Parts: sequence; structure tokens; C-alpha cells
Amino acid sequence: KSATIISAPFSGGQDKPGVEHGPSHLLAANLQSELESLGWDISLDDPLKNFDYQEYSKIKDVYKNCKKPKLVSDATNKIYNSVKNAALSNNFPITIGGDHSIAIGTVAGVFHKYPDSCLLWIDAHADINTPLTTSSGNLHGCPISFLMGLDSHSYPPHLKWIPKCLSPGRIAYIGLRDVDDGEKKILRELNIAAYSMYHVDKYGINNVVQMALRKINPHNDRPIHLSYDVDAIDPLYVPATGTPVRGGLTLREGLFIAEAVAETGNLAALDIVEVNPSLARNDVNVIDTVGAGLAIAKCAFGDTIV
Ligand code: ARG
Ligand code: MN
Ligand code: MN
Ligand code: MN
Repeated sequence: KSATIISAPFSGGQDKPGVEHGPSHLLAANLQSELESLGWDISLDDPLKNFDYQEYSKIKDVYKNCKKPKLVSDATNKIYNSVKNAALSNNFPITIGGDHSIAIGTVAGVFHKYPDSCLLWIDAHADINTPLTTSSGNLHGCPISFLMGLDSHSYPPHLKWIPKCLSPGRIAYIGLRDVDDGEKKILRELNIAAYSMYHVDKYGINNVVQMALRKINPHNDRPIHLSYDVDAIDPLYVPATGTPVRGGLTLREGLFIAEAVAETGNLAALDIVEVNPSLARNDVNVIDTVGAGLAIAKCAFGDTIV
């Protein structure tokens, strides 16, 4: 078993500085050796190592209401190549963010190698705004629409390279509780499998995970990409994140999802995003948030109590 930890210290998909420090905190919390002790060979990749962020502050990087499309395009394209190359060499890509716009690169990279994949998106948010529906203009709220090609005539020219690799029947959400009106319309019209906190309360987390997987992977024969926004978990457990929403998953519910997906044997890629240590009010907030990210990774890599 071999995996590549891909660092994606990127914050250009939203406005709050600090989320670019997510990867260094997760690595400092011994992510690599923790996964190695679970029996994995781990390599590291750092696709944004020589990325010249400065260059972008000198230009006017706005397209209509979309903020920083060139920056997001260039950074996610580097992440795309890194994830694609890891997957092509049969290394499991685990990408640590960074804001959720990086999923443009991770999902496109995984679907390049495994076009038959399905995507499980764990999040308080649907991240399916298009340039026409976004009110914030933050591209971390839009990655799914680009990967599906929704409202594609409205795309900033820089973002046109993104492969339209994701079909609406291949994504399921768990944890939703802050979805914009325009996003709700898209979810309804495309009949996308969307499990909110209401469904978690009503059916319990195990049933919700099984229902979600049955929709996107009915025969359990497709590779699964798990894209995990830590803000799916309640801010009581994950306080240091850019867009916290109360009423979220308990830490155990959040970890159960990763355990249950690992148990299918078909997990093919993992993203852990939106860890923003700079938004912690104190050291305990940092430890809690980074610790939750680390625990998600360990569960997804097959850690079990016994
Ligand atoms: N729906 C809001 C927006 O489009 C919030 C998105 C939050 N996304 C995230 N990856 N945390 O701006
Ligand atoms: Mn900084
Ligand atoms: Mn979110
Ligand atoms: Mn998200």
C-alpha cells in the first residue's frame, strides 16, 4: 500500500488568510508517520513549492463577480498534475489543503485515472455555485459546478481547462446545513444525492453513509474519492475553519464516515480541506482542529480500534 501526501497550501478560493497553513500543521502533527504506522509507504509532494503567489497580487485578477480566477486556475492545475501523477503511479493521493477550491485539481486528477469514480463530498456547504449564482464570488464555493460544467458559458477564460468529468449521479453529499438558494435549485433540478444534518438526525449516520454510497456506487465497484471539508464537523470540535456553521456532525459521526468508506475497500483518494489554524482563538482550538483532520486521515487509511 503506497500513498502520496500532496500539500496544497492554497487560500485563493476564499478571503481569509491562514488556510494555507493547514498542510504544515497536519504534517507537524505527524500525519506521515501516523499513516506509516498503519502499514502505508508514504511519499510527499509539494506542487505549489515554487508557486509565485506574488505575481498574482500585481495583476487585477477578477472576472465579473469571480474572485482570483487566474490564481485559482494556475494553482489547481498544478495540484491536478500532482494528483494525476500520484494516481497514475498507483499511489493513493491524499491532498491536504488549503481551501476547497483545490478539489478542482484533486477530483479532475483522480477522474483522469479512474473515469468511473464517484465522489463523496462531506461538507456543511454544497460548493456547487456557478459564476452566475455565487454571491460571495469565492471560488471555494464553486468547484463542483466547474467539474460538472454547469453554466459553462459563464466561466472565466482561465478556468476553461477544467475537465467536465463529474456527472450529477456520481456525487453524494453528507453534512449539508448552509446551502445557498441557487445551489438548492441546482441540487433539486439535477436530482443530486444530498444528505443534510436533518437526514443524519433522522436516519443516523450509518444509514446515511450506506444510502449515499448506494446512490453513487450501487454495486460497490467504483473507486471512491472522499473530499472532506472539516467544516462538516461541528465547530465545537473543529473551530478553526473559515466558514463554520453550528449544528454539524459530532466528531464521532465525522470519523465514522471515513471508517465506513475505508471499509468498502474502494477508497481511491482523500482530500482534507479548510483547516485554518489562524482562525483559532487559542491553542486548544488549533489542537482540536488539526487533530480532527489527522483523525479523519487515519480512519480513512484503515485505522481501527481493535
Ligand atoms: N456557499 C458559500 C459561498 O459560495 C460558502 C461556501 C463555503 N465553502 C467552503 N468550501 N467552505 O460563498
Ligand atoms: Mn500566513
Ligand atoms: Mn464547507
Ligand atoms: Mn467545502
